[in-house]
Amino acid sequence: MDKNFYITTPIYYPSAKPHMGHAYSSIIADFFARFKKIDGFNVHFLTGTDEHGLKIQRSAEKKGLKPLQFCDEISKTFRNLSEILNLTNTDFIRTTESRHKTSVQHLWRELEKNDDIYLSKYSGWYSVSDEAFYSEEEIEEINGLKVATSSKSTVEWVDEESYFFRLSKWEKPLLEFYEKNPGFISPEARKNEVVSFVKSGLKDLSISRKSFSWGIKVPGNENHVIYVWLDALTNYISALNYPNTKEKLFKSFWPASIHLIGKDILRFHAVYWPAFLLAAKIDLPKKVYGHGWILSGDEKMSKSKGNILDPIEIINEYGLDSLRYYLIKEVSFGNDGNISQERLEDCINSDLANNFGNLCQRVTAFAIKNCDSKIPKKIEFNKDDHKILNNYKDNIELIRKKIDNQDINFYINFIVNSLFEANKYFNDQEPWNKKEDLLRLNTIVFTTLEIVRKVSFLLYPIIPESSIKALKIFGINEADINLSSIENNDFLSKVDKINKIDILFKKIEKKDD
Ligand code: MSP
Repeated sequence: MDKNFYITTPIYYPSAKPHMGHAYSSIIADFFARFKKIDGFNVHFLTGTDEHGLKIQRSAEKKGLKPLQFCDEISKTFRNLSEILNLTNTDFIRTTESRHKTSVQHLWRELEKNDDIYLSKYSGWYSVSDEAFYSEEEIEEINGLKVATSSKSTVEWVDEESYFFRLSKWEKPLLEFYEKNPGFISPEARKNEVVSFVKSGLKDLSISRKSFSWGIKVPGNENHVIYVWLDALTNYISALNYPNTKEKLFKSFWPASIHLIGKDILRFHAVYWPAFLLAAKIDLPKKVYGHGWILSGDEKMSKSKGNILDPIEIINEYGLDSLRYYLIKEVSFGNDGNISQERLEDCINSDLANNFGNLCQRVTAFAIKNCDSKIPKKIEFNKDDHKILNNYKDNIELIRKKIDNQDINFYINFIVNSLFEANKYFNDQEPWNKKEDLLRLNTIVFTTLEIVRKVSFLLYPIIPESSIKALKIFGINEADINLSSIENNDFLSKVDKINKIDILFKKIEKKDD
């Protein structure tokens, strides 16, 4: 079985500081990366910044800075955000790095060699904000301004010499590929959008610009820079040292297991990118998943709409794990989600503080007092204990399968139900009334602690810091967290002492208004 897993986030435009939408893509990718890691996979997790193109050049000009100087500053804020979000990314790529430029120029030459590139002239609409070409049918007029219908960003007319990629040639092979690889585009509804777009006919794609200079030069023609999307998409292989395809890094991790992206950039990833790869005779990624948007007041967050939510402000107020939990649980994965402070506070209070935090505190306090701070050794499981413990063993394969289908909603529901059941078990079994029957008391404590351990393992991909903190009860370290051991019902028999831990989540005082 292939035990390598390569996951990527989109590389972000460093045109302004990061917002909640960027944080969302990264947190979700980190969830998958951590899950696979504790399931024994060798994980390569890539994120980074997309630094060329007119959008960045103009943003830099506005600040009176040279583009690279501007990118250096803002790219740093994205790198810092990766740390603040506690991402386990194994690489951070900037498209202004030389390793990337070499790859992009090599890919260009490959496309050229295979006769997929020709020189002509582009006359049409272009959105600098989306860095995308639009046809007449894809634009509309709002208040006298021409905008792209899909994104509502303004478009401008471009009339210039340009290199083209023979995208039309790849229409049939792409459709065949989607057919043969039904899991390539997810979720299903997004796949249907892509397939009907391709079926409606693909036009050749302009892949160079001549009227500005901030980009990677076209090999052999210094007057052109390579279209920023061809440049950016290549990051997924330049980070694996393409064209060194025989080397370990590339061989281990390409094709990527999953490109995680927002639904706004699906066309680039599910049509253009696979077409470039087909043309260059490189394997295609296994999956492209287009998640929904984080909405702010029912609209997609964006700088131009002025409705940006700052993830760092929320983290400073509520803590990172609260935000990670909230985004993973409350934004039904694959769909858009509205973010609300009230729901965030409810989540912290009910799920994190009550269901998880309280359970940990209650059972450890009870065990410290009644079991001499030790994991009970003499125990005898009855039917109730077996039932609640075996629920993990019985579902582990299903959990793995669901995660391979990106069913995060299943995963989080499994945890929420487990916590509910665990609290109910502890209450129903009433260990405080079993002081005359120490074998039973000890078995209830052991069983509940086992569940705390199992749930903490499962929570690790979502709230890593708090999971590690909870596992200090047993002196279990991060490196010891592994998924398959949730099958084991007496894992804790190798542990001796029970440690007292600080409160995991403080309840938020809700203001009555
Ligand atoms: N640079 C391109 C991606 C190139 S990938 C080869 C780009 N950058 S971006 O910074 O504008 O946005 C990147 C991603 O951020 C989006 O695809 C999406 O994953 C995420 N989000 C940006 N705004 C978002 C929301 N409001 N909600 C959720 N995610 C969104 O596009």
